[in-house]
Amino acid sequence: MTDSNKSGRAVFAGKFAAVATTVGSAVGLGNIWRFPYEAGEHGGGAFLLCYIVFALLIGVPVLTSEFIMGRCARSNVSEAYAVNGGGNRWRGIGHLGIITSLLILGFYAVVAGWTAEYFINSLTGQADFSSEKNLHSQFLYFTSGWRPLVWTLLFSLINFLILARGVTKGIERMSNVLMPLLFLLLVIFCIHSIFLPGFNDGVEFLFKPDFSKITPKVLLGALGQAFFSLSLGVGCMMTYASYFSDSTRLGRTAVTTMLLDSTVAIMSGLIIFPAVFSYGLSPSAGPTLVFEVLPNIFSRMSGGMIWSTLFFLLLLLASLTSTVSMSEISISYFSEAKRLDRKGATMLSCGIALLLSTLCALSFWGLSEVKIFGMTFFDLFDYVSSNIFMPIGGIASSLFVGWVMDRKAVAIQLSNGHERTATAAMMRALVFFLRWICPVAIFIIFLDSVGLLRF
Ligand code: PHE
Repeated sequence: MTDSNKSGRAVFAGKFAAVATTVGSAVGLGNIWRFPYEAGEHGGGAFLLCYIVFALLIGVPVLTSEFIMGRCARSNVSEAYAVNGGGNRWRGIGHLGIITSLLILGFYAVVAGWTAEYFINSLTGQADFSSEKNLHSQFLYFTSGWRPLVWTLLFSLINFLILARGVTKGIERMSNVLMPLLFLLLVIFCIHSIFLPGFNDGVEFLFKPDFSKITPKVLLGALGQAFFSLSLGVGCMMTYASYFSDSTRLGRTAVTTMLLDSTVAIMSGLIIFPAVFSYGLSPSAGPTLVFEVLPNIFSRMSGGMIWSTLFFLLLLLASLTSTVSMSEISISYFSEAKRLDRKGATMLSCGIALLLSTLCALSFWGLSEVKIFGMTFFDLFDYVSSNIFMPIGGIASSLFVGWVMDRKAVAIQLSNGHERTATAAMMRALVFFLRWICPVAIFIIFLDSVGLLRF
Protein backbone atom coordinates (compact mmCIF):
# COMPACT_ATOMS: atom_id res chain seq x y z
CA MET A 1 0.00 0.00 0.00
CA THR A 2 1.31 3.45 -0.88
CA ASP A 3 1.07 5.50 2.25
CA SER A 4 2.47 8.75 1.02
CA ASN A 5 3.95 10.40 -2.04
CA LYS A 6 7.36 12.02 -2.32
CA SER A 7 6.42 15.06 -0.28
CA GLY A 8 5.25 12.83 2.56
CA ARG A 9 1.58 13.53 1.84
CA ALA A 10 -0.86 10.62 2.14
CA VAL A 11 -2.08 8.87 -1.03
CA PHE A 12 -5.01 6.46 -1.24
CA ALA A 13 -4.02 3.02 -2.43
CA GLY A 14 -5.58 2.62 -5.83
CA LYS A 15 -8.90 2.68 -7.58
CA PHE A 16 -11.12 1.03 -5.02
CA ALA A 17 -10.09 3.41 -2.25
CA ALA A 18 -10.71 6.47 -4.43
CA VAL A 19 -14.25 5.32 -5.16
CA ALA A 20 -14.95 3.99 -1.65
CA THR A 21 -13.89 7.24 0.02
CA THR A 22 -15.71 9.59 -2.35
CA VAL A 23 -18.85 7.46 -2.32
CA GLY A 24 -18.49 7.29 1.47
CA SER A 25 -18.60 11.06 1.57
CA ALA A 26 -21.45 11.36 -0.91
CA VAL A 27 -23.68 8.69 0.58
CA GLY A 28 -25.13 9.89 3.85
CA LEU A 29 -28.17 11.43 5.44
CA GLY A 30 -28.64 13.20 2.10
CA ASN A 31 -29.50 9.94 0.35
CA ILE A 32 -31.28 7.96 3.01
CA TRP A 33 -33.02 10.67 5.01
CA ARG A 34 -33.33 13.70 2.71
CA PHE A 35 -33.89 12.10 -0.72
CA PRO A 36 -36.97 10.03 0.22
CA TYR A 37 -38.77 12.92 1.87
CA GLU A 38 -37.89 15.33 -0.95
CA ALA A 39 -39.07 12.80 -3.52
CA GLY A 40 -42.13 12.06 -1.38
CA GLU A 41 -43.08 15.73 -1.24
CA HIS A 42 -42.31 16.42 -4.90
CA GLY A 43 -44.19 13.74 -6.74
CA GLY A 44 -41.85 10.73 -6.67
CA GLY A 45 -40.91 9.76 -10.24
CA ALA A 46 -40.88 13.33 -11.54
CA PHE A 47 -38.43 14.35 -8.84
CA LEU A 48 -36.23 11.31 -9.39
CA LEU A 49 -35.97 11.99 -13.10
CA CYS A 50 -34.96 15.64 -12.59
CA TYR A 51 -32.53 14.65 -9.86
CA ILE A 52 -30.73 12.09 -12.05
CA VAL A 53 -30.52 14.50 -14.99
CA PHE A 54 -29.03 17.23 -12.78
CA ALA A 55 -26.63 14.89 -11.01
CA LEU A 56 -25.33 13.86 -14.42
CA LEU A 57 -25.28 17.22 -16.19
CA ILE A 58 -24.34 19.53 -13.32
CA GLY A 59 -23.06 17.21 -10.59
CA VAL A 60 -20.54 15.29 -12.66
CA PRO A 61 -18.82 18.36 -14.20
CA VAL A 62 -18.61 20.17 -10.84
CA LEU A 63 -17.34 17.02 -9.16
CA THR A 64 -14.73 16.64 -11.89
CA SER A 65 -13.68 20.27 -11.41
CA GLU A 66 -13.08 19.60 -7.71
CA PHE A 67 -11.14 16.43 -8.50
CA ILE A 68 -8.97 18.28 -11.02
CA MET A 69 -8.16 21.09 -8.60
CA GLY A 70 -7.52 18.77 -5.67
CA ARG A 71 -5.21 16.33 -7.38
CA CYS A 72 -3.32 18.98 -9.31
CA ALA A 73 -2.56 20.95 -6.13
CA ARG A 74 -2.18 17.97 -3.79
CA SER A 75 -2.98 20.23 -0.88
CA ASN A 76 -5.81 21.60 1.24
CA VAL A 77 -8.67 23.59 -0.25
CA SER A 78 -7.30 27.08 0.43
CA GLU A 79 -3.95 26.19 -1.12
CA ALA A 80 -5.67 24.47 -4.04
CA TYR A 81 -7.17 27.77 -5.23
CA ALA A 82 -3.89 29.60 -4.67
CA VAL A 83 -1.44 27.24 -6.37
CA ASN A 84 -3.66 26.35 -9.31
CA GLY A 85 -3.33 29.90 -10.57
CA GLY A 86 -5.67 31.87 -8.35
CA GLY A 87 -3.05 33.43 -6.07
CA ASN A 88 -4.03 34.81 -2.71
CA ARG A 89 -7.18 36.44 -4.06
CA TRP A 90 -8.94 33.08 -4.38
CA ARG A 91 -7.91 31.74 -0.98
CA GLY A 92 -11.06 33.25 0.55
CA ILE A 93 -13.20 30.75 -1.37
CA GLY A 94 -11.17 27.94 0.18
CA HIS A 95 -11.63 29.43 3.63
CA LEU A 96 -15.35 29.73 3.00
CA GLY A 97 -15.39 26.00 2.19
CA ILE A 98 -13.68 25.24 5.49
CA ILE A 99 -16.16 27.34 7.46
CA THR A 100 -19.09 25.77 5.58
CA SER A 101 -17.87 22.25 6.29
CA LEU A 102 -17.71 23.03 10.01
CA LEU A 103 -21.22 24.48 9.98
CA ILE A 104 -22.60 21.43 8.18
CA LEU A 105 -20.82 19.19 10.65
CA GLY A 106 -22.50 21.15 13.42
CA PHE A 107 -26.06 20.13 12.53
CA TYR A 108 -25.22 16.88 10.72
CA ALA A 109 -23.64 15.36 13.86
CA VAL A 110 -26.82 16.18 15.79
CA VAL A 111 -29.04 14.35 13.28
CA ALA A 112 -26.55 11.47 13.36
CA GLY A 113 -26.96 11.55 17.14
CA TRP A 114 -30.74 11.19 16.78
CA THR A 115 -30.05 8.19 14.57
CA ALA A 116 -27.90 6.68 17.31
CA GLU A 117 -30.76 7.03 19.81
CA TYR A 118 -33.20 5.28 17.45
CA PHE A 119 -30.63 2.59 16.76
CA ILE A 120 -30.15 1.84 20.46
CA ASN A 121 -33.89 2.02 21.15
CA SER A 122 -34.56 -0.48 18.39
CA LEU A 123 -31.74 -2.73 19.50
CA THR A 124 -32.87 -2.85 23.10
CA GLY A 125 -36.55 -2.87 22.18
CA GLN A 126 -37.12 -0.07 24.69
CA ALA A 127 -39.19 2.35 22.72
CA ASP A 128 -42.80 2.04 21.75
CA PHE A 129 -42.98 2.69 18.03
CA SER A 130 -46.50 1.38 17.65
CA SER A 131 -48.40 4.58 16.99
CA GLU A 132 -47.56 7.56 14.85
CA LYS A 133 -48.81 9.91 17.53
CA ASN A 134 -46.55 8.31 20.09
CA LEU A 135 -43.66 8.59 17.71
CA HIS A 136 -44.29 12.26 17.14
CA SER A 137 -44.42 13.08 20.82
CA GLN A 138 -41.47 10.79 21.51
CA PHE A 139 -39.44 12.60 18.88
CA LEU A 140 -40.31 16.01 20.33
CA TYR A 141 -39.69 14.82 23.87
CA PHE A 142 -36.36 13.26 22.95
CA THR A 143 -35.03 16.19 20.92
CA SER A 144 -35.95 18.70 23.59
CA GLY A 145 -33.82 17.14 26.30
CA TRP A 146 -30.22 16.35 27.17
CA ARG A 147 -29.95 13.00 25.39
CA PRO A 148 -29.23 14.37 21.89
CA LEU A 149 -26.28 16.22 23.39
CA VAL A 150 -24.82 13.01 24.77
CA TRP A 151 -25.33 11.16 21.49
CA THR A 152 -23.78 14.00 19.52
CA LEU A 153 -20.79 13.90 21.85
CA LEU A 154 -20.38 10.13 21.45
CA PHE A 155 -20.78 10.31 17.69
CA SER A 156 -18.22 13.11 17.49
CA LEU A 157 -15.82 11.05 19.56
CA ILE A 158 -16.00 8.12 17.13
CA ASN A 159 -15.56 10.57 14.26
CA PHE A 160 -12.47 11.94 16.01
CA LEU A 161 -10.97 8.51 16.70
CA ILE A 162 -11.19 7.51 13.03
CA LEU A 163 -9.74 10.79 11.82
CA ALA A 164 -6.91 10.78 14.34
CA ARG A 165 -5.66 7.53 12.79
CA GLY A 166 -4.87 9.42 9.63
CA VAL A 167 -5.83 9.40 5.98
CA THR A 168 -4.87 5.89 4.96
CA LYS A 169 -5.24 4.03 8.27
CA GLY A 170 -8.35 5.92 9.34
CA ILE A 171 -10.38 7.26 6.42
CA GLU A 172 -9.36 4.78 3.73
CA ARG A 173 -9.67 1.68 5.87
CA MET A 174 -13.01 2.74 7.31
CA SER A 175 -14.41 3.43 3.84
CA ASN A 176 -13.08 0.17 2.40
CA VAL A 177 -14.92 -1.77 5.10
CA LEU A 178 -18.04 0.30 5.69
CA MET A 179 -19.04 1.02 2.10
CA PRO A 180 -19.41 -2.63 1.01
CA LEU A 181 -21.22 -3.30 4.30
CA LEU A 182 -23.58 -0.42 3.59
CA PHE A 183 -24.39 -1.75 0.13
CA LEU A 184 -24.98 -5.19 1.57
CA LEU A 185 -27.45 -3.79 4.10
CA LEU A 186 -29.21 -1.83 1.37
CA VAL A 187 -29.53 -4.92 -0.83
CA ILE A 188 -30.98 -6.93 2.06
CA PHE A 189 -33.56 -4.19 2.64
CA CYS A 190 -34.46 -3.98 -1.04
CA ILE A 191 -35.02 -7.73 -1.20
CA HIS A 192 -37.21 -7.47 1.87
CA SER A 193 -39.18 -4.69 0.17
CA ILE A 194 -40.09 -6.94 -2.76
CA PHE A 195 -42.21 -9.06 -0.44
CA LEU A 196 -44.22 -6.17 0.95
CA PRO A 197 -47.81 -5.81 -0.30
CA GLY A 198 -47.19 -2.19 -1.33
CA PHE A 199 -44.12 -2.98 -3.46
CA ASN A 200 -45.78 -2.28 -6.81
CA ASP A 201 -47.31 0.97 -5.61
CA GLY A 202 -43.97 2.07 -4.20
CA VAL A 203 -42.15 1.24 -7.44
CA GLU A 204 -44.75 3.04 -9.49
CA PHE A 205 -44.55 6.11 -7.27
CA LEU A 206 -40.77 6.22 -7.56
CA PHE A 207 -40.27 5.32 -11.21
CA LYS A 208 -43.32 6.48 -13.09
CA PRO A 209 -42.80 10.16 -13.72
CA ASP A 210 -45.90 12.26 -13.98
CA PHE A 211 -44.54 15.01 -16.21
CA SER A 212 -47.25 17.42 -15.15
CA LYS A 213 -45.65 17.40 -11.70
CA ILE A 214 -42.40 18.94 -12.99
CA THR A 215 -42.64 22.51 -11.75
CA PRO A 216 -39.82 25.03 -11.24
CA LYS A 217 -39.94 24.17 -7.54
CA VAL A 218 -39.36 20.48 -8.28
CA LEU A 219 -36.50 21.34 -10.64
CA LEU A 220 -34.80 23.52 -8.06
CA GLY A 221 -35.34 20.99 -5.28
CA ALA A 222 -33.78 18.29 -7.44
CA LEU A 223 -30.75 20.40 -8.31
CA GLY A 224 -30.20 21.31 -4.66
CA GLN A 225 -30.50 17.66 -3.70
CA ALA A 226 -28.00 16.56 -6.36
CA PHE A 227 -25.58 19.16 -5.07
CA PHE A 228 -25.83 18.30 -1.38
CA SER A 229 -25.83 14.60 -2.04
CA LEU A 230 -22.59 14.73 -4.04
CA SER A 231 -20.87 16.75 -1.26
CA LEU A 232 -20.15 19.60 -3.69
CA GLY A 233 -19.22 23.19 -3.04
CA VAL A 234 -17.30 22.85 0.23
CA GLY A 235 -13.99 21.51 -0.99
CA CYS A 236 -14.68 18.05 0.37
CA MET A 237 -14.15 16.23 -2.90
CA MET A 238 -11.21 18.52 -3.62
CA THR A 239 -9.55 17.46 -0.39
CA TYR A 240 -10.18 13.76 -1.04
CA ALA A 241 -8.87 14.10 -4.60
CA SER A 242 -5.65 15.54 -3.21
CA TYR A 243 -5.07 12.01 -1.84
CA PHE A 244 -5.89 10.20 -5.11
CA SER A 245 -3.04 8.33 -6.76
CA ASP A 246 -1.68 9.58 -10.08
CA SER A 247 -3.32 6.69 -11.88
CA THR A 248 -6.86 7.40 -10.67
CA ARG A 249 -9.02 8.39 -13.66
CA LEU A 250 -10.81 11.53 -12.57
CA GLY A 251 -13.65 11.64 -15.11
CA ARG A 252 -14.43 7.99 -14.62
CA THR A 253 -14.31 8.28 -10.83
CA ALA A 254 -16.72 11.24 -10.97
CA VAL A 255 -19.20 9.27 -13.09
CA THR A 256 -18.88 6.17 -10.86
CA THR A 257 -19.40 8.26 -7.74
CA MET A 258 -22.48 9.88 -9.22
CA LEU A 259 -23.92 6.54 -10.35
CA LEU A 260 -23.36 4.85 -6.99
CA ASP A 261 -24.67 7.85 -5.07
CA SER A 262 -27.85 7.92 -7.16
CA THR A 263 -28.17 4.15 -6.83
CA VAL A 264 -28.20 4.51 -3.06
CA ALA A 265 -30.83 7.24 -3.27
CA ILE A 266 -32.99 5.00 -5.48
CA MET A 267 -32.47 2.04 -3.16
CA SER A 268 -33.54 4.17 -0.18
CA GLY A 269 -36.65 5.05 -2.14
CA LEU A 270 -37.23 1.37 -2.85
CA ILE A 271 -36.94 0.63 0.85
CA ILE A 272 -39.13 3.43 2.11
CA PHE A 273 -41.98 3.88 -0.42
CA PRO A 274 -43.17 0.25 -0.63
CA ALA A 275 -43.24 0.23 3.18
CA VAL A 276 -45.16 3.52 3.30
CA PHE A 277 -47.76 2.27 0.78
CA SER A 278 -48.05 -1.13 2.40
CA TYR A 279 -49.36 0.49 5.56
CA GLY A 280 -51.49 3.12 3.90
CA LEU A 281 -49.37 6.05 5.06
CA SER A 282 -48.48 9.20 3.15
CA PRO A 283 -45.08 9.55 1.46
CA SER A 284 -45.12 13.31 1.95
CA ALA A 285 -44.52 13.47 5.70
CA GLY A 286 -41.49 15.74 5.20
CA PRO A 287 -38.23 15.67 7.18
CA THR A 288 -39.67 13.52 9.92
CA LEU A 289 -40.42 10.66 7.49
CA VAL A 290 -37.48 8.62 8.74
CA PHE A 291 -37.92 9.33 12.45
CA GLU A 292 -41.69 9.37 12.84
CA VAL A 293 -43.19 7.33 10.02
CA LEU A 294 -40.64 4.62 9.37
CA PRO A 295 -40.29 3.27 12.94
CA ASN A 296 -44.07 2.96 13.03
CA ILE A 297 -43.96 0.88 9.85
CA PHE A 298 -41.21 -1.32 11.25
CA SER A 299 -43.20 -1.94 14.41
CA ARG A 300 -46.00 -3.44 12.28
CA MET A 301 -43.71 -5.82 10.38
CA SER A 302 -42.77 -9.23 11.60
CA GLY A 303 -39.27 -9.02 13.02
CA GLY A 304 -39.75 -5.24 12.91
CA MET A 305 -37.25 -4.40 15.62
CA ILE A 306 -34.50 -6.22 13.74
CA TRP A 307 -35.31 -4.25 10.59
CA SER A 308 -35.45 -1.05 12.56
CA THR A 309 -32.09 -1.76 14.22
CA LEU A 310 -30.50 -2.52 10.86
CA PHE A 311 -31.99 0.55 9.24
CA PHE A 312 -30.73 2.99 11.85
CA LEU A 313 -27.35 1.26 11.85
CA LEU A 314 -27.22 1.82 8.11
CA LEU A 315 -28.06 5.49 8.56
CA LEU A 316 -25.49 5.83 11.33
CA LEU A 317 -22.66 4.30 9.30
CA ALA A 318 -23.55 6.34 6.23
CA SER A 319 -23.48 9.50 8.37
CA LEU A 320 -20.11 8.59 9.80
CA THR A 321 -18.37 8.25 6.44
CA SER A 322 -19.79 11.66 5.53
CA THR A 323 -18.81 13.48 8.73
CA VAL A 324 -15.30 12.08 8.41
CA SER A 325 -15.06 13.63 4.95
CA MET A 326 -16.37 16.99 6.17
CA SER A 327 -13.84 17.05 9.00
CA GLU A 328 -10.93 16.24 6.72
CA ILE A 329 -11.35 19.57 4.90
CA SER A 330 -10.34 21.59 7.96
CA ILE A 331 -7.91 18.99 9.29
CA SER A 332 -5.84 19.10 6.10
CA TYR A 333 -5.94 22.90 6.26
CA PHE A 334 -4.90 23.11 9.91
CA SER A 335 -2.11 20.61 9.45
CA GLU A 336 -0.72 22.14 6.27
CA ALA A 337 -1.36 25.85 6.58
CA LYS A 338 -1.07 26.08 10.36
CA ARG A 339 1.58 23.35 10.61
CA LEU A 340 -0.11 21.38 13.38
CA ASP A 341 0.56 17.66 13.61
CA ARG A 342 -2.25 15.29 12.60
CA LYS A 343 -3.53 14.80 16.15
CA GLY A 344 -3.43 18.52 16.94
CA ALA A 345 -5.20 19.43 13.69
CA THR A 346 -7.82 16.73 14.28
CA MET A 347 -8.40 17.92 17.82
CA LEU A 348 -8.79 21.52 16.71
CA SER A 349 -11.17 20.68 13.88
CA CYS A 350 -13.27 18.25 15.90
CA GLY A 351 -13.23 20.66 18.86
CA ILE A 352 -14.69 23.50 16.79
CA ALA A 353 -17.23 21.15 15.24
CA LEU A 354 -18.27 19.89 18.66
CA LEU A 355 -18.82 23.43 19.88
CA LEU A 356 -21.06 24.13 16.89
CA SER A 357 -22.85 20.80 17.35
CA THR A 358 -23.52 21.67 20.97
CA LEU A 359 -25.23 24.88 19.86
CA CYS A 360 -27.29 22.84 17.39
CA ALA A 361 -28.24 20.14 19.90
CA LEU A 362 -29.27 22.84 22.37
CA SER A 363 -31.40 24.53 19.71
CA PHE A 364 -34.19 22.18 20.72
CA TRP A 365 -33.74 22.54 24.43
CA GLY A 366 -31.84 25.24 26.40
CA LEU A 367 -31.25 27.57 23.47
CA SER A 368 -34.53 27.09 21.64
CA GLU A 369 -35.44 30.73 22.30
CA VAL A 370 -32.16 32.10 20.96
CA LYS A 371 -32.87 33.19 17.39
CA ILE A 372 -30.57 34.77 14.85
CA PHE A 373 -32.40 36.15 11.80
CA GLY A 374 -35.41 34.35 13.24
CA MET A 375 -33.68 30.97 13.20
CA THR A 376 -32.23 28.70 15.88
CA PHE A 377 -28.56 27.76 15.54
CA PHE A 378 -29.57 24.42 14.02
CA ASP A 379 -31.75 26.03 11.34
CA LEU A 380 -29.30 28.85 10.74
CA PHE A 381 -26.31 26.57 10.12
CA ASP A 382 -28.39 24.38 7.83
CA TYR A 383 -29.82 27.34 5.90
CA VAL A 384 -26.61 29.31 5.52
CA SER A 385 -24.46 26.34 4.51
CA SER A 386 -26.83 24.54 2.14
CA ASN A 387 -28.49 27.58 0.57
CA ILE A 388 -25.77 30.19 0.46
CA PHE A 389 -22.25 28.92 1.01
CA MET A 390 -22.42 25.61 -0.88
CA PRO A 391 -23.78 27.20 -4.09
CA ILE A 392 -21.09 29.91 -3.87
CA GLY A 393 -18.43 27.19 -3.55
CA GLY A 394 -19.89 25.27 -6.50
CA ILE A 395 -20.00 28.32 -8.73
CA ALA A 396 -16.43 29.17 -7.70
CA SER A 397 -14.88 25.79 -8.54
CA SER A 398 -16.72 25.65 -11.88
CA LEU A 399 -15.62 29.14 -12.90
CA PHE A 400 -12.12 28.54 -11.57
CA VAL A 401 -11.47 25.40 -13.61
CA GLY A 402 -13.41 26.79 -16.59
CA TRP A 403 -11.74 30.21 -16.80
CA VAL A 404 -8.78 30.62 -14.45
CA MET A 405 -6.87 27.35 -14.31
CA ASP A 406 -4.34 26.60 -17.01
CA ARG A 407 -6.01 24.59 -19.80
CA LYS A 408 -3.00 22.33 -20.16
CA ALA A 409 -2.94 21.51 -16.46
CA VAL A 410 -6.64 20.64 -16.64
CA ALA A 411 -6.02 18.37 -19.65
CA ILE A 412 -3.15 16.62 -17.90
CA GLN A 413 -5.31 15.89 -14.85
CA LEU A 414 -8.16 14.67 -17.00
CA SER A 415 -5.97 12.34 -19.03
CA ASN A 416 -3.41 11.43 -16.35
CA GLY A 417 -0.72 12.89 -18.57
CA HIS A 418 -1.41 10.63 -21.55
CA GLU A 419 -2.21 13.09 -24.28
CA ARG A 420 -3.74 10.35 -26.42
CA THR A 421 -6.55 9.55 -24.06
CA ALA A 422 -7.45 13.14 -23.26
CA THR A 423 -10.12 13.23 -25.86
CA ALA A 424 -10.36 16.77 -27.01
CA ALA A 425 -14.13 16.47 -27.17
CA MET A 426 -14.37 15.53 -23.50
CA MET A 427 -12.22 18.50 -22.55
CA ARG A 428 -14.27 20.85 -24.66
CA ALA A 429 -17.54 19.61 -23.22
CA LEU A 430 -16.24 19.85 -19.66
CA VAL A 431 -14.92 23.38 -20.09
CA PHE A 432 -18.15 24.48 -21.76
CA PHE A 433 -20.25 23.10 -18.91
CA LEU A 434 -17.98 24.60 -16.26
CA ARG A 435 -17.90 28.00 -17.90
CA TRP A 436 -21.58 28.43 -18.64
CA ILE A 437 -24.08 25.72 -17.76
CA CYS A 438 -23.05 24.85 -14.20
CA PRO A 439 -22.53 28.38 -12.82
CA VAL A 440 -25.78 29.64 -14.33
CA ALA A 441 -27.80 26.65 -13.09
CA ILE A 442 -26.32 26.88 -9.60
CA PHE A 443 -26.88 30.64 -9.52
CA ILE A 444 -30.54 30.08 -10.23
CA ILE A 445 -30.94 27.66 -7.28
CA PHE A 446 -29.05 30.15 -5.17
CA LEU A 447 -31.45 32.97 -6.06
CA ASP A 448 -34.39 30.73 -5.37
CA SER A 449 -33.14 29.48 -2.03
CA VAL A 450 -32.41 32.93 -0.68
CA GLY A 451 -35.87 34.01 -1.73
CA LEU A 452 -34.88 36.31 -4.59
CA LEU A 453 -36.69 34.22 -7.14
CA ARG A 454 -40.23 33.07 -6.63
CA PHE A 455 -42.21 30.91 -8.97
N1 PHE B 1 -23.17 14.21 0.73
C1 PHE B 1 -23.46 14.06 2.10
C2 PHE B 1 -24.84 13.39 2.24
O1 PHE B 1 -25.47 13.11 1.27
C3 PHE B 1 -23.42 15.34 2.85
C4 PHE B 1 -22.15 16.12 2.70
C5 PHE B 1 -22.19 17.44 2.32
C6 PHE B 1 -20.91 15.51 2.97
C7 PHE B 1 -21.02 18.16 2.17
C8 PHE B 1 -19.74 16.24 2.83
C9 PHE B 1 -19.80 17.56 2.44
O2 PHE B 1 -25.30 13.18 3.29
